[in-house]
Amino acid sequence: MTTPTPGKGLEDVVVSTSEICFIDGDRGRLLYRGYDIHDLVAHSSFEETAYLLWYGSLPSRAELERTRRALATQRRLPPKILTLLRSLPRRANPMDVLRTVVSALGLYDIEGDDASREANLRRALRIQAQVPTIVAAWGRLRRGKAPVPPNPRLSLAANLLYMLSGRKPTPLAAKAMDTALILHADHELNASTFAARVTVATLSDMYSGVVSGIGALKGPLHGGANVGVIRMLLEIGEVDRAETWIKNALAQKKRIMGFGHRVYHTEDPRATHLRQLSEQLGREAGELKWYEMSRIVERVVNAEKGLNANVDFYSASTYYSMGIDPDLYTPIFVVSRVSGWTAHILEQQGNNRLIRPRAEYVGPREATYVPLDRR
Ligand code: SDX
Repeated sequence: MTTPTPGKGLEDVVVSTSEICFIDGDRGRLLYRGYDIHDLVAHSSFEETAYLLWYGSLPSRAELERTRRALATQRRLPPKILTLLRSLPRRANPMDVLRTVVSALGLYDIEGDDASREANLRRALRIQAQVPTIVAAWGRLRRGKAPVPPNPRLSLAANLLYMLSGRKPTPLAAKAMDTALILHADHELNASTFAARVTVATLSDMYSGVVSGIGALKGPLHGGANVGVIRMLLEIGEVDRAETWIKNALAQKKRIMGFGHRVYHTEDPRATHLRQLSEQLGREAGELKWYEMSRIVERVVNAEKGLNANVDFYSASTYYSMGIDPDLYTPIFVVSRVSGWTAHILEQQGNNRLIRPRAEYVGPREATYVPLDRR
């Protein structure tokens, strides 16, 4: 007996229970393991948030210290992975590189096929530690620069910026990146997390689940939107062109990257913080125009389409003000979402059943086979 055909794109279809993330799309609320995102932004760190997602509770001081140290000491890549990175075409899409190299990472996993929860918790932490190093190493290698070795004394966020630029970030930039990573860490059954859960529900491995997530997040309707936002702002070019440009785009029925959401029917609470970061980083960089343009675009899209900015809209100008290459924005989304994906993978593995929905067949029935020489 099958259930009635759901809305296109599984809109509002509840497919499972989960204890990891709660979203109230009408009131714009986002909780990780019951903790409000606003509290985590105010008081937590990305390392603590990753622990919370994986273990379901806030760590003690000793647990947090152990997690920080484990993340910091496992950042280095296996030498053969660096060799692989050096062999890839420099023009490759960084999300394709990340998908390829994370897949290869699995071949060097020191715990092999051990699929116990304890091994997968250690594996989740190793992947979380090494993905930032892959993103930063590629960001430099494709420009003909040597990768910057990770600095174990810096936080994950600060070290990411350090490995990208070769310079220690300002306190504001380090804090902003840490906040951005907290904000992007998890979001219930978004497309990439659902892809990761479907993959491991076949009893496939964590690397396969993360690679499925990377493949899904790449798309411009999902994590790839942040690159689309900065490309739009760069095309607009100047603050006084923003209003006309966006009104023309809307008149041409264009989809504006960074706006709208399947679940939120009010402001995405993550955009609230990223809007502030965009202004702060713009001030620090001495260039507020990307923030100011964003505010104008937001006002017009809101007024004319009733759409709110989502997490991708202000992350674009925030990262641009930090001097990060635009095509690394979605890989940075991966740096954060690896924590959510692996938390969901662990939850799926802890109470698994194969995920296998049905389709309502609407094709032809009773077709008669016609031999080739009579077609
Ligand atoms: C992320 O799911 C998650 O939780 C994702 C995420 C996470 O943390 O994992 O939050 C991260 O992916 C955020 C979304 C990033 N994507 C974008 O910014 C791309 C632009 N946004 C849209 O493509 C769209 O809003 C989606 C994909 C986000 C949601 O799409 P839906 O729910 O399928 O809505 P829809 O495409 O059916 O649009 C409904 C209406 C349409 O108008 P009509 O054709 O009915 O007249 O709203 C319009 C759309 O044209 N619309 C837009 C629009 N988004 C919706 N019109 C212009 N620009 C937009 N951005």
